[in-house]
Amino acid sequence: MAENLGKMVVPRHVALILDGNGRWARKRGLPRTMGHKEGCVAVEKTVENAARMGIEYLTVYGFSTENWKRSEEEVGALMQLFRFYMVRLLKIASANNVRVIMIGDRTRFAQDIIRGLDRLESETKDNTGLTFVIAVNYGSRDEITRAVRRLAEDCVAGKQKPGDITETLIEGYLDTAGIPDPDLLIRTSGELRLSNYLLWQMAYTEIYITDCLWPDFNQEELEKAILAYNKRNRRFGGV
Ligand code: IPE
Ligand code: IPE
Ligand code: MG
Repeated sequence: MAENLGKMVVPRHVALILDGNGRWARKRGLPRTMGHKEGCVAVEKTVENAARMGIEYLTVYGFSTENWKRSEEEVGALMQLFRFYMVRLLKIASANNVRVIMIGDRTRFAQDIIRGLDRLESETKDNTGLTFVIAVNYGSRDEITRAVRRLAEDCVAGKQKPGDITETLIEGYLDTAGIPDPDLLIRTSGELRLSNYLLWQMAYTEIYITDCLWPDFNQEELEKAILAYNKRNRRFGGV
């Protein structure tokens, strides 16, 4: 760990857009799927590093609602990787006292993947260390749409009143209910956009963009982001 990191405030919740797997592979003349495979290794290491550093929540964007637009071959390869890493992740989570939570609409996945995701959550639910949130088939607009639909249904059923709707009530209908808002967003591979990620939750999140391609992301890169975060003056609209 960097010497001066000891004095630093570790953000409570780090959100990650792990981007650049394809570019990492292209640079090496490899198929894109090899980049995704290497990217999974970087996710595993980041979970272990975050747990060790005392980060309480780590949310990673694994697959967006828009990523279904990719070729059938790439989507198929990503699904196979999910199958493989769900099992590995169960071991890593158990070894590191990590609780796993999924956000996103899992109903679009194959039955065995849904079962695997359910199992990951249920078997790690009593772990008390890092909470590792995985966003799969996640899109903020989809999440908000699903939340509004359920809230409207509850209004029709007389369980909620439109006049009682507050920001806190809406938060309770989002997939992230009970999870604090991210303090720091890290996006790898240099793109300057949110790509439909946690739009409600990141209203006041500090944004850190690095040119590092996701498979190259490591402890040193995570520390660099946290050092940069410590130099920010968080204001939340006040003076
Ligand atoms: C991120 O890497 C992984 C997923 C979106 C699943 P990309 O696949 O987007 O890699 P680039 O952006 O094409 O380099
Ligand atoms: C965002 O990356 C989604 C994930 C990392 C899962 P993309 O590569 O899909 O985003 P865009 O298309 O560059 O905005
Ligand atoms: Mg990308």
